[in-house]
Amino acid sequence: MCDKCRRPVQAVQERCDHCRKKRPADGWAVDARVGQPLLGSLKVIQRIGYGATGGVYLAEDPGTGDRVVVKYLHGALASEPELVKRFRVEAVVTKELNIPQVVRTFDFGRTDDGTPYLTMEYVPGTGLREAMGSGTMTMEDALEVMRQILMALEVAHKRCVIHRDLKPGNIILSRDPEGHLLVKILDFGFAKVLADRHDGFHHTVKVTRDRIILGTPHYMSPEQAKGAMDLDGRTDLYSLGVMLYMMMTGVPPFNSEVPMEIIQMHLTQPPKTPSSLCPTIPQEMDRIILKLLEKKPEDRYATASEVLADLDRLYPAGASKWNIEQISNNAIDTSDLLMQVGRYVEDSIQVPDPSKNNWPVALYVAGAGAAALAILTLWWLFS
Ligand SMILES: Nc1ncnc2c1ncn2[C@@H]1O[C@H](COP(=O)(O)OP(=O)(O)O)[C@@H](O)[C@H]1O
Ligand SMILES: [Mg+2]
Repeated sequence: MCDKCRRPVQAVQERCDHCRKKRPADGWAVDARVGQPLLGSLKVIQRIGYGATGGVYLAEDPGTGDRVVVKYLHGALASEPELVKRFRVEAVVTKELNIPQVVRTFDFGRTDDGTPYLTMEYVPGTGLREAMGSGTMTMEDALEVMRQILMALEVAHKRCVIHRDLKPGNIILSRDPEGHLLVKILDFGFAKVLADRHDGFHHTVKVTRDRIILGTPHYMSPEQAKGAMDLDGRTDLYSLGVMLYMMMTGVPPFNSEVPMEIIQMHLTQPPKTPSSLCPTIPQEMDRIILKLLEKKPEDRYATASEVLADLDRLYPAGASKWNIEQISNNAIDTSDLLMQVGRYVEDSIQVPDPSKNNWPVALYVAGAGAAALAILTLWWLFS
């Protein structure tokens, strides 16, 4: 295993294929998790994820062949209280939400050596990133993917949960038992639970400042890029707008080798109209995408279901077999979810504090600078 990017390498390799790190004099590190027993009869068999949190592995019960996915919060990350808290939010939210399009967590805790972990359903399928990269996605599939994500977001947002890191790498295209496309949203590691108990989505609340800004530059909303503290579901709609733009045109609305430049473009530059890149895109689709990509949240759609209604008006024939009622049927009540999060994640629900509502501009600037640095570090470490 490469000790910089943690991807697998062959013992004989001079350099890591991914990050080009040179083999250390004493050889590559061994990925200690693989082959280890986990809980009960589960055994870790393979590493499948290389994200920011530390590691995602496939584990199997050799007796029954049952498979689960295990996500760990590795090493130094596990001693960062803020990250441990966020990991717990991810675990509780994905355990409790009960939305078919949200990957389900079964269990979470700490291993014998104190490493936080969670086990979740194994979702076989293709990552949306790979599906988009292969250029083989049909318009019908792209719309169905959007629709299912929008429906799941509508239900999650109503329950005060915002994802904050929607991107193709966090979406898996799977199949239900009848063979229909089933979209699964992963990685609620950056999710935020808003404290407003009435209708969570419209009412934004003040949240404590995160120590690092979260998200991925290509998909990051302007308000997230600024380190705003009053994010709401519309930040997810912006990220979805970036994904829809890419699905329709094949390119992101803003691109650069330099993450800070991408962030700057999100903040200041209007995106090119999709049909100017791809003339077959209907005007109404241009309008939907550009409305999702509005710089100010108040100029965007207010809810995921509004986007859904516009998409269904534009493409009535492709209506999904899913509807919001079905998806929310078994979903947890907002108050129960807030209770569970409060129970497992101390201080994770931020209650509005009017006395601290007016941050001096200097703090915002300093915050944005620190945030940018953090993004650059994350980018460098994990891309
Ligand atoms: N439940 C799962 N089933 C199948 N693959 C998964 C599952 N969870 C994660 N993965 C794979 O691992 C990758 C990283 O997982 P993710 O939850 O996004 O972690 P990170 O926080 O490290 O980005 C995903 O892009 C996906 O390829
Ligand atoms: Mg991820």
